Order: sequence, then C-alpha cells, then structure tokens
Amino acid sequence: MLVASNRGPVSYTVDEDGSPRAKRGGGGLVSGLSAIGPDADSLWVCAALGDGDREAVRRAGGGPLPDEDTGGQRVRMLDIDAQVHADAYNGIANSVLWFVHHMLYQTPLEPVFDAEFRRQWASYEAYNRAFAEALAGAAAEGAAVLVQDYHLCLVPGMLRELRPDLRIGHFSHTPWAPPEYFGLLPGDIREQLLAGMLGADRVAFLTRRWANAFTECCQAVLGPGAPAVRVGVHGLGADADFLRKRAHEPDVDERLAALRAEIGEGRRSIVRVDRTELSKNIVRGLLAYRQLLDDHPEWRERVVHLAFAYPSRQDLAVYRDYTAEVQRVAQEINSVYGTPGWTPVVLHVKDDFARSLAAYRLADVALVNPIRDGMNLVAKEVPVVSDQGCALVLSREAGAYEELGAHAFPVNPYDVLETARALHAALSLPPEERADRTKRLAAAATALPPAQWFLDQLRALEDLQPS
Ligand code: G6P
Repeated sequence: MLVASNRGPVSYTVDEDGSPRAKRGGGGLVSGLSAIGPDADSLWVCAALGDGDREAVRRAGGGPLPDEDTGGQRVRMLDIDAQVHADAYNGIANSVLWFVHHMLYQTPLEPVFDAEFRRQWASYEAYNRAFAEALAGAAAEGAAVLVQDYHLCLVPGMLRELRPDLRIGHFSHTPWAPPEYFGLLPGDIREQLLAGMLGADRVAFLTRRWANAFTECCQAVLGPGAPAVRVGVHGLGADADFLRKRAHEPDVDERLAALRAEIGEGRRSIVRVDRTELSKNIVRGLLAYRQLLDDHPEWRERVVHLAFAYPSRQDLAVYRDYTAEVQRVAQEINSVYGTPGWTPVVLHVKDDFARSLAAYRLADVALVNPIRDGMNLVAKEVPVVSDQGCALVLSREAGAYEELGAHAFPVNPYDVLETARALHAALSLPPEERADRTKRLAAAATALPPAQWFLDQLRALEDLQPS
C-alpha cells in the first residue's frame, strides 16, 4: 500500500552544524495510517519542501528516511528540483487550484492565465510525473495507491499508464468547485485535471457536496463520454483518544494557566485556531467580534477573543498581506475598545499545538467561519476536549457543517452582522444547554475516527475488481 502527498508526515529543519532535525507532523493521514500498524507493508511518498528536507534526502541516499525520524513509518521524500516544486506548489496548487476550489478569486483582476501560468503548469506536470514514476517504481504487483489532494491531480492518470495493474485512489481534502467556477480554468487544463483524476479507480471527497460538484464538473467538461470512475465520500472525524490524552499532558496544563491569566478572571472567551489562510475568514471573524462589542456593550470587559492565526504559505504575497491585515484589524479593535485592564483581542501567531489544545479546553465559544472548507477539524476537535462545554459558531460552508450544523450556531461567513448575532447567542447559552450541545457535537465529531476513515478508503479500493 502506498500513500502519496505533497507534505509528508515528517519535515526537517537544519541545525547549526548543518545536520537535519526531524519534526513529525499530525493530521488525519498520519493517525489514519498508524492504524494499519507498523508491520504493514506501506510506503509514504512525499516531496522535500525545504533545505532541511533536501539534506535529509541526501543523507538517506534517496531511499527511505531513518525510522527514528518517522516513528517507524516507511517514508520516501522526493527531491524534486526546487524551482519545479515552487512553480507547482506555490504557482499552480496554492495560487490556482486552491483558489478555484475555495472560490477565492477577486474576479475583476484575477485569475490571469498567461504565459507565466503555462510555464508553471509545465512544472506542475513535471512534479506530478516525478511522483507517478516514484510510485510506479516502488509499488508491488496489484498494490493499492492512495493519492492525496489537489497537488497531485495528474498522478492517477500518469500512474495508470505506467502501471495498469495498480489500484489507484485519489482523495481530495478540499472542497470541489461548482462547474461554473471550475469553468474559470482554461479548457485544456480543466480536461487534463479531470482526466488525470479519472485515471484513478476511485476518487473520494470529505462530503457529498464536494463529490457531487466533482461529478457535475466531469459532466460539464467531458460530457457523457467521460470515463467511468467510482466516487466515494469519507468524512474525517476527530481523533478522540489521542486528543483527550494529549490535552491533559503537563505542557497543555501549563499553557492553560497562562491563557487564563491572559484572559483575566471571570471573563468569557471566544476562541479561534487556524492557519492564517485566506479561506479561513479571520478578518471577518474579527469584524464580527467588533460588531458584537458595538451591539452589546455589556460584553465589553467581560469577554476576550483569543485568535490563534498560524503562519501559512508565506512565500505567497497574498498570504503575507492577509496575515498583515489580520494583525492590523486586531490591533485596531484593541486600540479602539481596549481599556487599561482589558485587551479585547489576544492574537497569537506562533504555532503551538499545546497552546491550541489549552484554548480548546477553556473556550466558551469556538468561532469557525471559513468561506469554504473541505471539512474543518477545529470544529470537531474543540467539543471533544472542552472542559466545561463550548458553543460552536460554524460556517454553513464548512464540510463539518453537514455533520455538526444541527448543534451549532450556523452563519453565512460573509455576513458579519449575522456572525455577531451568533456570537452573542453562543455566549448567552445557558450552561445546561451548552453542555448538552457539546455532548452532541462531540458524538457527531468522533463518529468517523481517522483510523476508520483511512481503512474504509483502503478497503473500498481493495474490494474493486482489478481493471
Ligand atoms: C490543506 C490541504 C493539505 C495541506 C494543508 C496545509 O489542509 O488539504 O494538503 O497540506 O492544507 O497546507 P500546506 O500548503 O502548508 O501544506
């Protein structure tokens, strides 16, 4: 069994003496894959993303990374030419495909599909080919290959040509664009992307909504002659066992105490935890909080908005600008509303998982208001670790809404006034009802643990008759 993804389960920084230092990542795939056990014959193929990764690949002689770095998992990193990777990852995957599926373009000025775009597209093809060749070279006869996400849309088609014996699955962790938005892409690119994915035996998505959008795009672009492929839906839930244990380790307790001191005695908290990602809608979240302070001055001095916005994709100017805008709006709220004893917004930008868990534990309200989101695991993790119950303000455009919406305070992510009203209602929820809702949220959020999510996909692929 092989897994392929751009970002692997481990990354490396370079120590002062030039040696690579491993840092293991988390996420659904990592915990899902661990469910099949260390003895399973599996290989994870990913890309080297920086100098530390490249040095580790060099030291591993291009073979699997050392077991002690990967926790025993077999991981091979591909050292793809840095410019090719930058074009494919920053240029195409994150600036085009991510934008299309999250509907992020400001269309009067963008997108622009010009000669530069075509140059980057050639890199995207080369980058996908490097994965397809590595997988083709490593897979045993009839092996299952699980290809992940929008970075690797062309891999299934390329791999199918190289190795018709393999069972190939593709999984999208993002939303899928509706046909009219997918239609922004040049015709030949649309066809190539879909044909690439249809090279898989099975393509799967986090929700029915994204799966349907994909099918509609195939019909709109390829017409009735589109090759048949099975389309699956696998919702990913929170990893309850891991979270409950991890959230009570000493480093989390320490941060909990620090956060309590930062918020101040007797105050409520509205918590958000995100990468500083355009689709997460952090600025409108801040504006909604500001509106809450205007509409309900009784909350002034009595609530703090803890906003964790961790740097993401900082090679892209639009992400850097967005990060600056988040900081600017947070500071503005503090300077307009703050008092000597009260800082209305506490913004943290340094990634710290233990502190995120501490914030989950103490949150009175969790704000999850993305413009669009494949699933959103924060919405699922908070109710699982919450100490005293937490009300959830949740965007209707998050995949998680399908499973959690009934017990949350739903919002249109663009509607700042509605979001402010939802924050007020969530803060005002009586304790018993809050506890009751949290229980329901936690039950829905943990219905599909990562291990099951992963094994279901693997079984569905293995059950298919070889094509
Ligand atoms: C989303 C994508 C993942 C990606 C992650 C972080 O969840 O679906 O494929 O790894 O964002 O983004 P990054 O660009 O830092 O890998």
